[in-house]
Amino acid sequence: MNHDQIHIIGGAELHGEIPVQGAKNAALKIMAAALLSDEVCTIPNLPDIEDVRRMAELIAALGADIKTDSAGTHISGSGISSTVLPADLAGKLRASIMLAAPLLARFGEVTLPYPGGCNLGVRPIDLFLEGFTALGASVTEAEKGFSIQAPQGLIGASILLPKVSVMATESLMIAAVLAKGTTTIKNAAMEPEIPALAEYLIKNGAKIEGAGTSTIIIHGVSQIGASAFTLIPDRIEAGTFAILGLLTNSEITVTNIVPEHLESLWLHLRKAGATLDFTKNSVTTKRHHGLTSTNITTHEYPGFVTDLQAPYTALMTQATGMSLIHETIFAGRLFYTDLLASMGANVIMCDPHRVVIHGPTQLHGRFLTSPDIRAGIALILAGLAATGTTTIDNVYQIDRGYHDIVGRLQKLGANITRVSKDAL
Ligand code: EPZ
Repeated sequence: MNHDQIHIIGGAELHGEIPVQGAKNAALKIMAAALLSDEVCTIPNLPDIEDVRRMAELIAALGADIKTDSAGTHISGSGISSTVLPADLAGKLRASIMLAAPLLARFGEVTLPYPGGCNLGVRPIDLFLEGFTALGASVTEAEKGFSIQAPQGLIGASILLPKVSVMATESLMIAAVLAKGTTTIKNAAMEPEIPALAEYLIKNGAKIEGAGTSTIIIHGVSQIGASAFTLIPDRIEAGTFAILGLLTNSEITVTNIVPEHLESLWLHLRKAGATLDFTKNSVTTKRHHGLTSTNITTHEYPGFVTDLQAPYTALMTQATGMSLIHETIFAGRLFYTDLLASMGANVIMCDPHRVVIHGPTQLHGRFLTSPDIRAGIALILAGLAATGTTTIDNVYQIDRGYHDIVGRLQKLGANITRVSKDAL
């Protein structure tokens, strides 16, 4: 884990264009789905970020083939020699759980360590275990995790998810591709990464209907192939950079985006008084004379995405009035607001799911430690809007989701540098 720090001198007006990378939360799932086949999946726009690197290490540790060259990253399930997810690697990445479905579907077994990897609390995996059980697998608790077995193969079933879950939906869709018979997933998540994953699977022979709606039907097939597949743009990066433009009162253009993936964000930004110019694959933030506070409630897609809650909250510290930020998806996703308060934001924490922001208040640079990916980028945004110098520690959390964030923001004119702690 790198021990760099990010140093920011705030206040600069930004300018220019910033392109968005391939979506992290699509990449991690296509990488897992590639293991369903011995043929080669090529992803030309895999983002070079820490979470993808961890997933690549896990795939290699299972014995599968993965290599990167000028054409992109090539992955195939041929050579898989283990169905045990190594705890040390899986513990760094919650999305490692995505590897359970292809291993269970192809080999009838997988050993999963207890979940870890994310500061949003050790999130449960009950929906995955219950879903695999519904598909005919048996789950036993072993010493360091769960052993999931389906020696006769998986059998299609009708599954009602008691709670909407993105990766549980994706995992059960992948597992059902090779199951005998038909699987119906009800109360499925609808995030854009799910139809994107289904598109990859269908392109390679899977029979799937309804991905992107709350009911997905999968007709099992005996095997599927693999092929080249370009990731959708990262909607969280796109929204983060649009918020950055408004927070620094700059005119910047975010390119390589799908505006339709962020309609809830655009709605709230317009309510706050922002002017945004769109083309079919870009958004330009216009300079403004101050924004108005708005309330947000995070919600499954197409509601306001929880991964943009922290950047949006940073923006609301500079808006006029009171904003209620209601985080409904995760319990541990508002604790970074005390760091915004240490910079001068006026924050009232009502309960673990709600804070009220009273703005605008001048933010002042501070020494801050990044708690998780999205809070980390929100602290960078706050530092860019603050007076004085902000130093951010634990940069690994930011590197998990944003490739070369310092270099890309420097290109916009931000006064930001990365310093190796060892050099300090
Ligand atoms: C995905 O996580 C994303 N990660 C998250 O982005 C995102 O915040 C989240 O979806 C919600 O949109 C990836 O795609 C790799 P969930 P996921 O299962 O699938 C509870 C980022 O910053 N739950 O939809 O893990 C869970 O605790 C990351 O890129 C169970 O109770 O999220 C949460 O309260 C952070 N039991 C709720 O469901 C389970 O078995 C929704 O979580 C699984 C989840």
